Amino acid sequence: MKKIVAFNWKENPDNLSRVGGIVRAVLRSVPKKRLTIVIIPPALFIEKVRKLIGVRKEEVFLGVQNVSHLEKGAFTGEFSAAMLGSLKVTHAIVGHSERRYLFGETDKIISLKIKSCLKNKIKPILCVGEKKKMPQEKSWSFIRRQLETDLPKIPDPKLRTLIVAYEPVWSIGGNRKVNPSHAAYMIDKIKSFLYSVYGRRYSVLYGGSVGCKNIKNFLKYHQIDGFLVGSASLRPAEIRCLLKLI
Ligand code: PGA
Repeated sequence: MKKIVAFNWKENPDNLSRVGGIVRAVLRSVPKKRLTIVIIPPALFIEKVRKLIGVRKEEVFLGVQNVSHLEKGAFTGEFSAAMLGSLKVTHAIVGHSERRYLFGETDKIISLKIKSCLKNKIKPILCVGEKKKMPQEKSWSFIRRQLETDLPKIPDPKLRTLIVAYEPVWSIGGNRKVNPSHAAYMIDKIKSFLYSVYGRRYSVLYGGSVGCKNIKNFLKYHQIDGFLVGSASLRPAEIRCLLKLI
């Protein structure tokens, strides 16, 4: 399976004029056929990023950080998975911890978002992760509950496009570092759980303060199928270095 690198820009950069520099840094560093790269800018910048990606459709994809759980109608400020499909967006982050805890997104809403993505052929990148550092078994029961509530109860052929990102919330934004062996352990658990429910092997990424300085430690673990990168995804030098090492 190709490794996946998803660059989550969050609410950055603050000006459209800075988009080109970041996207070009990615395009210039794409390793041939080795990686699937997903650029995930703020929704307002989608069109610009799409134009810059241009013909590199085989290896560089376009994603969004959020999507409505509602199909259409009087829901001010929302945009649907169907709209994203019409803009050739291929991936959507669903259930990022910043959405869960800063914007009150519930598991019910997240499960509806997943359904809507699948219905509209958008690949969901479902983020799961424990809120604080705790013993491994406790972390796993927390994550297992997230998977059980966010994903459909019964196997659904459309779910084959699912990607999961394991992001311990306490490790996001560079505050505290995760031990890569912990990440690999949790990713193994997630994969076995998904296999037991759906009979499929899914790609599971790691996210949380990934950068050039620490990526080699994660790359030692074959369980980790790729990375969801936040702050490092805005810095051209980091982008080049990451794409060289992965
Ligand atoms: P970070 O963000 O790399 O800045 O820790 C990761 C994420 O939130 O997806």
